[in-house]
Amino acid sequence: MRKNIVAGNWKMNLDFEKAEELMDDLAEILDEKKPEKCEVVICPPYLYMELAVDYAQEANFEAGAQNVSSFDNGAYTGEISAEMLKRLEVKYVIIGHSERRAYFHEDNKVLQAKVRKALDNNLKPIFCCGEVLEERKGEKHFEVVENQLKETILKLSKEEFSKIVIAYEPVWAIGTGETATPEQAQEMHAFIRGLIVEAYDEKVADDTTILYGGSCKPGNAKEIFAKPDVDGGLIGGASLKAKDFAAIIDSF
Ligand code: 13P
Repeated sequence: MRKNIVAGNWKMNLDFEKAEELMDDLAEILDEKKPEKCEVVICPPYLYMELAVDYAQEANFEAGAQNVSSFDNGAYTGEISAEMLKRLEVKYVIIGHSERRAYFHEDNKVLQAKVRKALDNNLKPIFCCGEVLEERKGEKHFEVVENQLKETILKLSKEEFSKIVIAYEPVWAIGTGETATPEQAQEMHAFIRGLIVEAYDEKVADDTTILYGGSCKPGNAKEIFAKPDVDGGLIGGASLKAKDFAAIIDSF
């Protein structure tokens, strides 16, 4: 059976002191709550990765990275390799976030290479997909997500695919305050699960965790997580406040 996950994507936020404070607060809250219905993951900027891994050893959360290089180690200025993350004992890595696709021109080929490096180094990819507003308005959203997945992770072997977590993040809902309705999320998640059945089988589809992301907050998480094909969330803004993030974790 698949597991629920609530992951916080901190993006490029917080100075060192604030990051440490947030990890500290979160560790304390989760120590009291001991979340049993989901795994909690935090994905801070690289600079705070080692700190997050140190916390994760004791606290009830896991550490994830926001990105990974599509190359191995070597002359790639500014990059961080999957092997470096593995050595640090990072567990997850976000790949294919719409901000990486849009601002850093990461296409399906690059993303597939990143997934490969992550899997070769025992990191679990949280692979993002999702349509922009024009595509939703033009009723192209299913086609867009299908292509994003078919050109990347649905090419993996069954065994490799079993390590993947998917995050559906409609781009029009990210950081805008506009959330997909629980019905819109469910509809897309069920569609994605259908694609997994087609590519592999029912069991693989049943075992795949599919997260929703996009303006998920304490006020709407419960309704969204209640949908049968939504297995948690990838949280941006609300993961920067320990209490809000904890309330979302409590929403199962
Ligand atoms: P917000 O929760 O801030 O909309 O961001 C979602 C997101 O992009 C998580 O990866």
